[in-house]
Amino acid sequence: MCGIVGILGRAPVADQLVASLKRLDYRGYDSAGVVTLEGDHFDRRRSEGKLRNLESGLRAEPLWGHIGIGHTRWATRGKPTESNAHPHMTDNVAVVHNGIIENLRELRAELEQQGTQFASETDTEVVAHLIESYLTKGYSPSEAVKAWLPKLRGAFALAILFKVHDDLMIGARKGSPLAIGQGDGQMYLGSDAIALAPFTDTITYLADGDWAVLTRKTGVIFNAQGAVAHREVVKSGGSSFLVNKANYLHFMAKEIHEQPEVVGHTLRRYVDMAAERIALPQRLPFDFNDIGRISITGCGSSSYAGHVAKYWFERLARVPVELDVASEFRYREAPLRKGDLAIFISQSGETADTLAALRYAKAQGLHTLSVVNAPTSTIARESETMLQTLAGPQIGVASTRAFTCQLMVLAALAVAAGKSRGELSDADETRLVQRLIEIPRLMATALATEPQIEKLARDMAKCRNVVYLGRGTSFPLALEGALKLKEISYVHAEGYAAGELKHGPIALIDETMPVIVIAPYDGVFEKTVSNMQEVAARGGNIILMTDAKGAREAIVDPLVTIVLPDMAATFTPMVYDIPMQLLAYHTAVVMGTNVDQPRNLAKSVTVE
Ligand code: F6R
Repeated sequence: MCGIVGILGRAPVADQLVASLKRLDYRGYDSAGVVTLEGDHFDRRRSEGKLRNLESGLRAEPLWGHIGIGHTRWATRGKPTESNAHPHMTDNVAVVHNGIIENLRELRAELEQQGTQFASETDTEVVAHLIESYLTKGYSPSEAVKAWLPKLRGAFALAILFKVHDDLMIGARKGSPLAIGQGDGQMYLGSDAIALAPFTDTITYLADGDWAVLTRKTGVIFNAQGAVAHREVVKSGGSSFLVNKANYLHFMAKEIHEQPEVVGHTLRRYVDMAAERIALPQRLPFDFNDIGRISITGCGSSSYAGHVAKYWFERLARVPVELDVASEFRYREAPLRKGDLAIFISQSGETADTLAALRYAKAQGLHTLSVVNAPTSTIARESETMLQTLAGPQIGVASTRAFTCQLMVLAALAVAAGKSRGELSDADETRLVQRLIEIPRLMATALATEPQIEKLARDMAKCRNVVYLGRGTSFPLALEGALKLKEISYVHAEGYAAGELKHGPIALIDETMPVIVIAPYDGVFEKTVSNMQEVAARGGNIILMTDAKGAREAIVDPLVTIVLPDMAATFTPMVYDIPMQLLAYHTAVVMGTNVDQPRNLAKSVTVE
């Protein structure tokens, strides 16, 4: 969740540390800090809140060290105060950390017994004191790391500096990601390649349990057993990527508008456009005919993408699908059948619960397939098969184009499954692929509803509660729409299966309650109309998202109708998500919230 960076440079590194933290603040942004080593003393600046506060602190009191570490925080243990902000220091050690140390209590008690005084509430400070205790016993920095590392339980990525050693930085990872970047006589550590992109594109990802001893010219990686390990050096594509908002006010707006393009790129990866056939980029290491059940797992929006895909796999391939949020799947000891398929969906590829679920399924002997946006992420690397979404970096915290690209990959996979199981004929495949090829154009048309939605958002911003309803694949979309609204505008919203309305939520309906109904003119449209009538009868304000035919046939009189392009029923969620995103976005803009960095959230959730 937090972002870390470390630089062994040849000139003052504070500015570079901050530049790198700016690229990492999607991982957390409630406080930040840097420390550099100058001669034989550490000099540290930390501040609460956004990075700009740290920047002004550094302008007032610059740091001059040529070696330093930095951190942007998403608070887990301890409030987002300056004293809890990283780096944490002892007399001889400075540490930045992403993750959670689970045996904090016992380690802290042990250290307190030895007379250690703590200056913060964080688990990270315990790591610093633990290392210090080994240095005091006469261990060298590397010997100390080798000795204390096995004592840590939980998830961590660490970058550590040692006083006096101005050509040494040690990094370690377990659970949380960490990459080494190699420059010309300079060395870097970072939570991801994007953080290091301004300095180098030569990247080595540490494997789980690895730790690394770095100097400006050398990098030696050790595995969890302490043996020297050789990890692949890769050229990172992240370096060419420029993080900017173009002419948009927010990254989220840019990311919403770029969807026809990135969903189109993703489509071309999975479909032979000329032949109108599904063409997966690699052979799958299993036969869909041998799969008795698919288990789909993810968190948040990614789990909703999986929820939509459940309908597709079941309908098009007639294969039963079990859907779980990863935090439940990993602990519920689900009986799984060896040889079945488990699909994991994650934009970042680093979500701790999804990763744990993947490891569980792997241990049970299932085929594992991940749909990820970050191809070098841990989930991507640990899955048997990785299908990449080409959404580009998702900087706004709320998932938009990552979600629709996930849907595109899952749709192609469901058609492939239907075809190999003999449930779809060649003609069916062609018909479905033609529908997929239409999606980017239809998304572009859906974007034209923006002025109408912008107007609607002004009313929405006055509401305290909103209900979203949908049936079939529009049900998970109702869940996704509600999530989007609440996470960026802080307006309370709930999504329900439209048929569930009368089983409880209908009690909420009165004239102050907007009810957003997602109802393309499909096989369940009339059923949804009945539910709209129930809402109308209780004075609820219906906002209907439908197509031209649906608008004509709706019978009830919605307060507002958003008319989306006519399209065949199967893949509507990719298009109907656009007004959902726009509504959340414009409501948040009216409310004046921080759209790209909503409170309490982080983009990459590497803790449970
Ligand atoms: C919501 C959102 C989150 C993520 C969730 C999983 O807009 O972005 O709900 O979908 O945290 O993240 P990934 O997909 O990176 O595993």
